[in-house]
Amino acid sequence: MSFKREKFALMKKIILDQKDISKIKRRRTFAIISHPDSGKTTITEKFLLLGKVIHQTGIIKPKRFKKYTKSDWMDIERQRGISINTSVMSFSYLGYHINLLDTPGHEDFSEDTYRVLTAVDCCLIIIDGSKSVESRTEKLMKVARIKKIPIITFINKIDRNTYNYIKILDDIERKLKIFCVPINWPIGCGKLFKGIYDIYTNKISLFTQNSLIKVIKKNIFLNHNDFFLRKYLEKNEILQLLEDLELIQSCYNSFNKRKFLQGKETPLFFGSALNNFGIKNILNKIVLWAPYPKIRNSLTRKVFSIEKYFSGFVFKIQANMNPKHHDRIAFIRIVSGKYTEGMKFYHVRTKKIKIIKNAVNFIAGERCLIKKAYPGDIIGIHHMGDIKIGDTFTEGELINFIEVPKFAPEYFKIIYLKDSFQQKKLLRGLKQLSEEGVISFFQTFIDRSLILGVIGKLQFDIVLERLKIEYHVVAKYRKTDISIIRWISSTNKKAFEIFKKENDLFLAYDNDNEIIFFTTNIFKLNLIKSQYKDIYFSEMKRF
Ligand code: G4P
Repeated sequence: MSFKREKFALMKKIILDQKDISKIKRRRTFAIISHPDSGKTTITEKFLLLGKVIHQTGIIKPKRFKKYTKSDWMDIERQRGISINTSVMSFSYLGYHINLLDTPGHEDFSEDTYRVLTAVDCCLIIIDGSKSVESRTEKLMKVARIKKIPIITFINKIDRNTYNYIKILDDIERKLKIFCVPINWPIGCGKLFKGIYDIYTNKISLFTQNSLIKVIKKNIFLNHNDFFLRKYLEKNEILQLLEDLELIQSCYNSFNKRKFLQGKETPLFFGSALNNFGIKNILNKIVLWAPYPKIRNSLTRKVFSIEKYFSGFVFKIQANMNPKHHDRIAFIRIVSGKYTEGMKFYHVRTKKIKIIKNAVNFIAGERCLIKKAYPGDIIGIHHMGDIKIGDTFTEGELINFIEVPKFAPEYFKIIYLKDSFQQKKLLRGLKQLSEEGVISFFQTFIDRSLILGVIGKLQFDIVLERLKIEYHVVAKYRKTDISIIRWISSTNKKAFEIFKKENDLFLAYDNDNEIIFFTTNIFKLNLIKSQYKDIYFSEMKRF
């Protein structure tokens, strides 16, 4: 047998059959990210209506859960646990299987969002047209850029008075560092918003007061005297549109799928989620343009979705699904092969085999048992604390996905006990919370003090409460002026030893015994960096 034929025969053996492969090709896994209040919930609901998962709006996020306070956190956790909010909303649309991953709206859970981004193949960014690019979107976009995720942008709320549209595009390019490719363009805004012109199909969709959308199908070469157009638009509106289009043509590229898939350009849409205006168009484009699950990198090799054997990684752990039983669910993004009920998983880190009978998904608040799942799908498996974020599951192969990043926390406190006999319990609790990705904690070199670090301040309260309820430990906080930590490493062993010796007062171990440097401000950090050129200071590490 020739080498080529042999390779082909081998490939045939180790890839899924055509029926399964065609299922993978019809999967689209994406997340919506936005600054709170930009319209993520509204648009999600419209998508679910299109997918026929729900039949009315107002189901996903009842108002009482929107603005919560510290004391509500258990409720939030419970709500997050049982509701649609924790999870993946899967639905069929135009023959495609869509997995829409939810990202927490509150910034105190933003680390969760970063991790969700590792599990998707595409992202929809929503920008509130009346506010342009906001801080949280900038931060999330940084992560999307690291992962080179293809991004579609939706400028929402154009029925309100918005920023100058060109200024929004300018903001996106400067702040989010991605080139814009307008796909459609609004005619007017706020009270004078008349509709949208589709640059690629020359179609105008009119926005009428009672939200009924009238589409002018005419293949228009815009002309302000056009008799047909003048039935719907004022002369000055057509002239303005012509002017805008001229500007767009000279300043922006036209859509290039390759650049979109590389995360270099973002196709940009305008619309109004509340009025369900322009939403269907976006979902159509997600189906058309977003990639199906393809390849993921592991430490040792590239893993292809169409491979026969199962592999996947944990990107999220949700505790308190059932507080009485310390029930936890680990969410796994499937990378290759397929999941079937009752199959054996090899847990690469612990080298243990698990039989998975009850993988679940959450749809509209209901747990649903999953019988079969494919790459791009997310499955939730129950565990008692032995699974960490970043863990890989396979059917026996020793691979580790390098997908889930851990970010340096931004707020710090010293955590200590009233009763030092409980130290072991405290460490066990902190270790588990850290493995869930809720917090980071560090033990200083000098006196073994425990520094607790979080990304959202709300987590400080959550930690004390969870330590009390789940681990029966009463802990307290002391203020600290630490405001920055960096993981340190070096290829120069000698330089690393010298650095450690000279700076041991500012060093600590993290949960994985890796060393971090902590300091009080960026000037001190920069000074140290300039003094120790051989030391690498990192803001991020792999889970
Ligand atoms: P989020 O999940 O990103 O936090 O945003 P959400 O969808 O909850 O929307 C935030 C607010 O913006 C909501 O108003 C929502 O109705 C409004 N909104 C969303 N899309 C549009 C739009 O296209 N046009 C206009 N004018 N408003 C929009 P709210 O007053 O906070 O809540 P509600 O009383 O409307 O539920």
